[in-house]
Amino acid sequence: MSDSPRPTLVSGGMVVTGNGVERADVLVVDGVVAGIGSFESGHDDAEVIQAEGCYILPGGVDFHTHMDSVFRGSIRTADDFATGTAAAVAGGTTTIVDFCRAEPGESLAAALEQWRWRVAGQQPWADYGVHMVLVQPDEDTLSQLSGLADLGVTSIKMYLAYPGRMMSDDRALLRAMQRAAESDLLVLVHAENGHAIEVLVEDALSAGHTEPAWHGKSRPSVTEAEAVSRAAVLAGLAGARLYVVHVSSAAALSEIERARMAGTNITAETCSHYLVFDDSMLDGVPNEVASRFVCSPPTRALEDQNALWEALSHGSLAVLSSDHCPFALEGEKIVDGDFTHIMNGLPGVEQRLAIAYQGVANGRYSLERMVDFVSTAPARLAGIHPKKGEIAVGSDADLVVLNPHATTVLSAATHHSAADYLPYEGMEVAGRITRVLLRGSTVFVDGSVVPGNRPGTFLHRSTTHQLTGETL
Ligand code: URP
Ligand code: ZN
Ligand code: ZN
Repeated sequence: MSDSPRPTLVSGGMVVTGNGVERADVLVVDGVVAGIGSFESGHDDAEVIQAEGCYILPGGVDFHTHMDSVFRGSIRTADDFATGTAAAVAGGTTTIVDFCRAEPGESLAAALEQWRWRVAGQQPWADYGVHMVLVQPDEDTLSQLSGLADLGVTSIKMYLAYPGRMMSDDRALLRAMQRAAESDLLVLVHAENGHAIEVLVEDALSAGHTEPAWHGKSRPSVTEAEAVSRAAVLAGLAGARLYVVHVSSAAALSEIERARMAGTNITAETCSHYLVFDDSMLDGVPNEVASRFVCSPPTRALEDQNALWEALSHGSLAVLSSDHCPFALEGEKIVDGDFTHIMNGLPGVEQRLAIAYQGVANGRYSLERMVDFVSTAPARLAGIHPKKGEIAVGSDADLVVLNPHATTVLSAATHHSAADYLPYEGMEVAGRITRVLLRGSTVFVDGSVVPGNRPGTFLHRSTTHQLTGETL
């Protein structure tokens, strides 16, 4: 729904559509794109948003966020759905897909109902969908997967890491994949070999290595590659569609490409932080600095980083997500004792498009390619395209006005997340997002979210996830 019954005209921008970049006006009526072209006359009643010299992009779709999430039993992420989606829209992301997890013994439907009630109560600025997390699911839980799509949830997520907390074994994963295949659900996998990492962590601690750098050293890229390969084999056996979250290494990428060549239906994402940070962020620096960069999988070597940029540009990686999962520095990220106590995860929902745009500014790929991996491809995978992820007549008027002639300094002093730090602190990036519309309604303008306007709603996703025209 728009602010008023008046149409809105986003005038004179360079609009990125499925056909390329064209100078055009975007006419918005009742929150939906009603026309793309020249509307200089005939719409005198319209509210006009001048966008001369700016790009008009479809609102970003972040397929991987953790808002208001509890890890390790009791530790909650810094952002709830209010602050987290304020950060999202301020960074040009108008749709997020987050995670719901059923408590032991709770039905998936009941968990989802609770989740929806809790999220709606936090009045998000962005629209939101959800993946269902399964932890070592039993037969009763698996039998509920056939009803998940009717509830608007068309993907499940499983962890091969974090033994004793989130990890599922291969039997549970294969059974879940079989059921997912029957119900056409996408299977998201956090691919790291949890048991191997457990052994390496034990060895590191026995040798007296307690510093944050050992978080990364105890999770070498081969433990990621092995888990990707295993998940791909199991997905092939089950005939399931596999989506590997937060790919961080060239070794994992090779396994994805190998599985794809062998006929496995496998898609993958990387995350903004792996494009910017490398393993030197953890090494040889004070603990309180290194802790800020601790995430899983860990940031890798520069060669890995280059491979990720390359894979995004040629399409081997279809999606850039944020894996937004910030924890407060005090008591959560910076801890006394060894590295295993540092909470895993970084903020990034607000910086994802800015970092993606650096690839355009540096000539790594086109703006159209960027729009595909930050908006269109995740919308397709989520089953919310063409409503989301593309500027087309009939799609939701989720629009981002980006001024390519300005720059932005990323900083916790100006970000909208409740996180008390920003790993990208002080980084100056090309481009500035000046306005964001969700379904035709301005939710962010001139550096601030619009306080009285928090129109985010739950997205009932469909099972039509196919990436069309893909290079994969
Ligand atoms: O370090 C990360 N990725 N934290 C979020 C939880 C997870 O692993 O998905
Ligand atoms: Zn993960
Ligand atoms: Zn995650």
